[in-house]
Amino acid sequence: MRVLMCNCHNSLKLPKLKLGPDVKVEEFDDLCKTKPEIAPDEKVVIAACSPNLLEGLFPGTNAEFVNILEHVFLIGHRPEKAEQMINAAVAKMEKTRPVKTKFFQISSRKALVIGGGIAGIEVTAQLSKNGIETTLIEKTPFLGGTVAKLDRLYPEGTPYSHTLMPLINTMQSQKNAVSLCNTEITKVSGRVGDYKIELVTRPRGVQECINCGKCIDVCPVEIDDAGKSRKAIYYVPTYPDMYAIDFAACTRCGECVKVCPGRIDLNEQEKVSEIAAGAVIVATGLLWYDVSRVEEYGYGRLDGVMKTLEFERAVAAGTLRPKKVAIIYCAGSRDSKHLPYCSKICCLLGLKEAKLIIDRYPDVQVYVAAMDMRSYGTFEYLYNTLREKGVSFIKGKPSEVFRWNGKLAVRTEDLFTNELMEIEVDNVVLSSGFVPDVETFSKLKINLTVDFPVLYENAGLSNTELPRGIFTAGAATFPGGVAETLIDARKASHSALSLLAQKEIETKINQAVVDEDLCSVCRMCIGTCPYGAISVVEDKIKINEELCMGCGICSVTCPAYASQLEGWNHEGLREQIRELAQQGDIVAILCRWSAYNATERAAQDKLGYPGNVKIIRVPCTGAVDPSHIMLALNNGAKGVLIGGCYPHACHYARGNFRAKAREQILKLNLESLGMAGNQVRLEWIGKDEAHKFVEIVQEMNK
Ligand code: FES
Repeated sequence: MRVLMCNCHNSLKLPKLKLGPDVKVEEFDDLCKTKPEIAPDEKVVIAACSPNLLEGLFPGTNAEFVNILEHVFLIGHRPEKAEQMINAAVAKMEKTRPVKTKFFQISSRKALVIGGGIAGIEVTAQLSKNGIETTLIEKTPFLGGTVAKLDRLYPEGTPYSHTLMPLINTMQSQKNAVSLCNTEITKVSGRVGDYKIELVTRPRGVQECINCGKCIDVCPVEIDDAGKSRKAIYYVPTYPDMYAIDFAACTRCGECVKVCPGRIDLNEQEKVSEIAAGAVIVATGLLWYDVSRVEEYGYGRLDGVMKTLEFERAVAAGTLRPKKVAIIYCAGSRDSKHLPYCSKICCLLGLKEAKLIIDRYPDVQVYVAAMDMRSYGTFEYLYNTLREKGVSFIKGKPSEVFRWNGKLAVRTEDLFTNELMEIEVDNVVLSSGFVPDVETFSKLKINLTVDFPVLYENAGLSNTELPRGIFTAGAATFPGGVAETLIDARKASHSALSLLAQKEIETKINQAVVDEDLCSVCRMCIGTCPYGAISVVEDKIKINEELCMGCGICSVTCPAYASQLEGWNHEGLREQIRELAQQGDIVAILCRWSAYNATERAAQDKLGYPGNVKIIRVPCTGAVDPSHIMLALNNGAKGVLIGGCYPHACHYARGNFRAKAREQILKLNLESLGMAGNQVRLEWIGKDEAHKFVEIVQEMNK
C-alpha cells in the first residue's frame, strides 16, 4: 500500500508517519499538479484536501481519501490528529475489498424513443439522421402529443401545425426512423447498451383509408375529448394520415364498416413484439395534475369550470362564447396539499388563454388571479401586452369557486387593492401544474424520488457513476415550452449518441458483493434494495451489477454480513473506527453527498469546532451499521453523530430513512442498557450547512 501526502506548497506541516514495512509513504508539494501514477488494482491512502476534488484527479483508483487540509490544518487542529486520521485510513484500506473495474458492452446501437410528442419526434429525427436505427413509440393513434391538442402556441399565438408538421416531416424522411402508434412498452429487461423491450401495439381498426370522412358521419358515438367533441372513429391532422378507432368508446355497431371504401377491421387483435436497444429515451411529455382534487375550485362539480386545455379547444372549436372569464393560477401548485413545486409554464399557458379569447372576442372581460406572475425571460412582454389589452390582474389566491343563484363566481382577495371580492363569470379556467409520467419510469425500473427527473443527471438518471442508458427529453424531464422542449430533446439526442458511439463502458463504482459461504439466502436484502438489483438465481443471492448503485443498504440489512460493499466493507470501517475513536471523542459518520461536504464548508468559512470531532465519510447513512456506532462508543467516544441527506434528498431513494429507523431502535436499546440514548444522533445536514454541523458537534461535546 502507498500513502500519498500533500503539503500543499509547503504550507502544511505533515506528520512523520510510523507505518509498517509494506506501506510506502510519499510526500508531494503539489499533488494536484504532480498527479502520480496509481495502478488500477493498487491500494492507496491519499492525505490531502477534499475527496470531491481528488476523486476527479485520481479516477478509477482504490483510494481512501483523508482530508487533512479541511479537517485539521485549516481549522487549527493539532498535526497529531492528521497522523491518527491517516493511520485509521491505512487500517481501513488493509481490510477493504478493492473495487473491481466493470465493463459493459454496448451490444445494440439502436435506440427506442417513448412518446410521440415534439420531443420524441425531434430525438428520433436527430438520432436517425446520425445513423442510429430508432424506433419511436406513441401510445395514442397519432403523433404530436400535447402540441397537437393545442390550438395555438405562446407567445405569438401561431398555430401548432407550423411547428409540429415540419418536425414530423423531417423525421419521416429519415430512413433509419420507424414510428409505431398505439404502442406501449410492457416489459423491459437488460442494461445499458443492451436492452430488450417488449411492446404491445393495440389495434387501430382502420387499415386502409382515403380520408373521405364517411365513417364519422355514421358513427353514433360522440365523446368529449378535452373540450372538443369527436366521434369514436376520428382523425387528428398529424401522422399517420388516416383515421383511427377509439376502442374505449366504440360500441362495435359496424356502421363505419358499411360505408368505408377502404378497410376497417373491428376484430383486429393487439400485437406483441420485442425490440433491442442500447439506449432508451423517455419523451412522454406533460401530464396535467388532477385538478378535481383542488375541491374548492369545483372542477368536475361545477359547470363552467374548465382546465386550460379544455378552454382553449372549446374556444377554438367555436362551442364556447363567454362574456366574462376568470383564470385562476397555481390551481394546486406551490401548495403542500397538492404539488409543492412550480411547474414553470402554467403562468404562460394562462396568459396564452387570455390572449386567445381576447384576440377572438375583444369584448370579453378577463380576470387573472395569481399569487405571482412568473412570465420569465422574454415572455414578460406577453404579460405587458395583456395588461395593455385590458385584462384585469388580481394578486391573490382565490379561496373558492361557487354557484349562487345560478351564477358562477370566484371569491378572492386582491393584495393590490387590499379588497375581498366576488367576481361573477361565465367560465373559470384553472391553470394547474403538471406531474411526471411515473408509470413509464417505473416500467424502466426508475422510481422517481423527486417530483420530476430534472434533478437527476440526464446522463444516467442517477447520481452515481453507472449510466443506465436511459435519458429523458423535453417535458418528461420537466415542463417546458416548445422551444425549451426542443433544446432539451437535442441534448438528450447527443447524450444518447455519445453513449451509442462507444464499444463498451468502463466503470469503477462501489457495488455490493455477496459472500456465498456466509449467505443463508434469507432474502432480507431483496426487499431493501431500492434498485431491485438483488434476486435469487439458482438458490443463491445474486447482485445484478447493471442495477446496483452502491448504496450499501443491503450490507446493513444482512444479518450475517454476507453482503458487503466494495470499498466500504464493514471490516474496513470497523478498523477505521477502532483506530480513530478515542476516549471523549465525537465520531461523526457522514454521508459523502451532504453532511461531509458541510464539514469542508465549515473550514472554508473559518468555523471552528473541537479537535475531538473525528469524521468518517460513508456513501450513504443507509450503509451505517449499528455495530459501527457501538464500536465507537465502546472505544470511549462520548457521542456518535450520523449526518445524512434531508428526507427525500437521499441519493439512494430511502437510505436516510432506514438510517433513521435504526437510530431510533439503537437509542431504545442503549436506554434499556442504562446508557444515554442521546449519545447517538442522526441529523439531516445539507452540504452547505456548516453552521448546523458545528452547532450539533458543539452541543454533543458539552
Ligand atoms: Fe446521503 Fe443517503 S445519500 S443519506
